[in-house]
This record gives sequence, structure tokens and C-alpha cells, in this order.
Amino acid sequence: MFDTTHAHITTWVIALILFVVAVALSNAGNEKGKKIVQMILRIFYLLILMTGILLFWKHQGYNPALYGMKFLGGVIVIAMMEMILVRMSKGKGTGLFWGVLIIAFIVTFILGIKLPLGWNWLA
Ligand code: HEM
Repeated sequence: MFDTTHAHITTWVIALILFVVAVALSNAGNEKGKKIVQMILRIFYLLILMTGILLFWKHQGYNPALYGMKFLGGVIVIAMMEMILVRMSKGKGTGLFWGVLIIAFIVTFILGIKLPLGWNWLA
């Protein structure tokens, strides 16, 4: 949990899948199904944060600035997923939030693989 990224990767991959399912259910007009998936997704937000914070706490001393940006990027990804789902339920526009989600995801992903643990494609 502290020294490998497997648990962290598992949590955010499952969260992304749940997010896509929730969006699809919402688009299909199944608000009840979407609500249930969204509740499960919220548990995964907490798991992403817990696993991310454990890694951060132990390793950020190596490069506090980059780790700080990774933390922020991850939190923005979670916030955007939640905003999009809430706004979809209210019938409000989500365009801007999708833009921020995609950019924040790319930045977070690149920072994640650049940092020393786990995958190191950019080393
Ligand atoms: C949905 C949001 C997130 C995504 C897509 C994501 C993605 C990633 C990826 C791709 C890695 C690299 C895995 C590896 O190299 O094996 C990683 C590692 C990491 N993530 Fe996240 N993450 C997210 C949220 C967070 C959050 C919220 C935090 C902080 C609380 C965080 C902290 C970390 C830390 C500290 C590492 C280890 C970096 C290292 O030392 O190599 N992540 N994440």
C-alpha cells in the first residue's frame, strides 16, 4: 500500500469504469441506476484518496512540488467526475467540466508515471 501503486491504480481504474457506466445510464434516462452507480463511485473516490495519500505521505519528500501537483490533479479529476454527474442529473451543461476532466486526467496520469514508483515510462 505504501510502496507499490497497485492498489491505487486499481481504485482509479474501477472509478473511471463506474463513471462511464453512470454517464451511460444517465444518457439512457435511467436516473435510478445512475444514482446507485454514483453512490458506489463515491466510495471509490475515498479509496483513490486514501491510497493516493498513503503514497504521497511516504514519498513526497523526493519531489514535493511534483507530488503536490499530482495530488491536486487527482483531486481535480475526482471533483470533475462528481460535478459532471451532478450537473447531468440537473440537466445543466457539462462541456467545460469535460474539458477540465480530460486535461486534469492527462496531467495526473503523466505525473503519476513520471514519479519514481511503479511504471516509469518517462524515466
Ligand atoms: C482519478 C484520479 C487519479 C488518477 C487517474 C491517478 C493516476 C495515477 C497514476 C497513473 C500513477 C502512477 C502509477 C505507477 O506508476 O505505477 C499514480 C501514482 C500516484 N498517485 Fe495517483 N491518481 C489519481 C488520484 C490521486 C490522488 C487524489 C492522490 C493524492 C492524494 C494521488 C497520489 C499519487 C501518488 C503519491 C502516486 C505515486 C507516485 C510515485 O511515487 O511514483 N493520486 N496515480
